[in-house]
Amino acid sequence: MQTALEAAILGPRGANPLVGSVLVDAHGRILATGHHRGAGTYHAERDCLTRALAAGVTDFSSTTLYTTLEPCTHYGRQPACTDLISDAGVRTVLVGARDPSPNGGGVEVLRTRGTEVVDGILREQCEKLNHRWNEAAGQQRIFVTVHLAQSIDARIAAADGTSQWITSETSREHTHMIRQRVDAILVGTNTVRTDDPRLTARDERGALTPAQPLRAVMGLSDVPEKAQLKQGRPEGEGWIHLRTRDPLKALKDLATTQHNGHPVKHVLVEGGQSVLSAFFAADLVDEIFLYTAPLILGSGRSSLADLGVTTLTEARRYTLDVADGGPTTIMDNDVCIHLQPEPKGAR
Ligand SMILES: NC(=O)c1ccc[n+]([C@@H]2O[C@H](COP(=O)([O-])OP(=O)(O)OC[C@H]3O[C@@H](n4cnc5c(N)ncnc54)[C@H](OP(=O)(O)O)[C@@H]3O)[C@@H](O)[C@H]2O)c1
Repeated sequence: MQTALEAAILGPRGANPLVGSVLVDAHGRILATGHHRGAGTYHAERDCLTRALAAGVTDFSSTTLYTTLEPCTHYGRQPACTDLISDAGVRTVLVGARDPSPNGGGVEVLRTRGTEVVDGILREQCEKLNHRWNEAAGQQRIFVTVHLAQSIDARIAAADGTSQWITSETSREHTHMIRQRVDAILVGTNTVRTDDPRLTARDERGALTPAQPLRAVMGLSDVPEKAQLKQGRPEGEGWIHLRTRDPLKALKDLATTQHNGHPVKHVLVEGGQSVLSAFFAADLVDEIFLYTAPLILGSGRSSLADLGVTTLTEARRYTLDVADGGPTTIMDNDVCIHLQPEPKGAR
């Protein structure tokens, strides 16, 4: 299960949990390892079984599958893992954590079919791996990733409001990679007025990638007629205006929006200060990519507004996230820190 956990953290966070799987033979030798690479791609179990087949495994009747999360019972963009496991004829399944989402229940399904299932192997580590995803799933809300590009004095814009470009080209390419994997990008009305961003996902050559995220603007004032993110199209065609200042309401509205053939399940909040602060204040941030560039702006918009924290005991605490490329990356002269909220009760 430790090997499955190490595989799981190679994947990206988002609409789906991080999951790793390992298939072993009757002697405990590893036949294949798999992990989930994000929404719409093979689940870890399928990745692992596919790799086992490619490696020449034809008889699964004496194999054991370790998986960090209970296999899903649900047909979505991918088939139910319980069916794939049953069809392959895997003898034993060892499960780490239970799936709190409506896709759970795989342990019981497999047992009814006669598969031997042992539940709760390294349960604590497996649950901790996806503690924020579990929380979001429990609240039936979409997963929130935050992008924050700032100077070393924690400012996201200069005094004249300009913020393009605080960070390096490599940092911006990284942001475009994150944009490609989310369902929606969210900014506030003032960022649209100030920066007029396109909010598109582009590859390293600057070309638009095939599946563009939904472009969402939050706030009560109108989105300027000529805003680039509209692309000259009416609302509902690639962009949406969420007429609210309440981040939870914005998430609920996004969750009922279909984009690219499925509901929005993962949003990238890109700012500015007011919108970011509202998400942090409401504890609705599940993952952070914090890009810090080596420049001092001295004055200008600070990254976050006053969140009402007055003592260290009230401080919002985050931990380095080892998943998806690790906790820190140098991007030209910038440092990108990958963070997640500290698990509740961690101190
Ligand atoms: N470096 C970066 O990564 C980055 C990214 C984005 C923006 N920026 C910079 O950030 C600056 C804009 O920051 P900002 O704070 O003014 O813009 P913002 O957060 O984009 O938009 C603020 C507006 O959003 C609406 N809003 C929605 N929810 C709100 C809430 N919970 N609380 C308060 N207002 C809410 C309000 O307008 P309504 O009256 O419409 O409700 C408010 O005036 C710009 O200079 C931009 O260049 C930097």
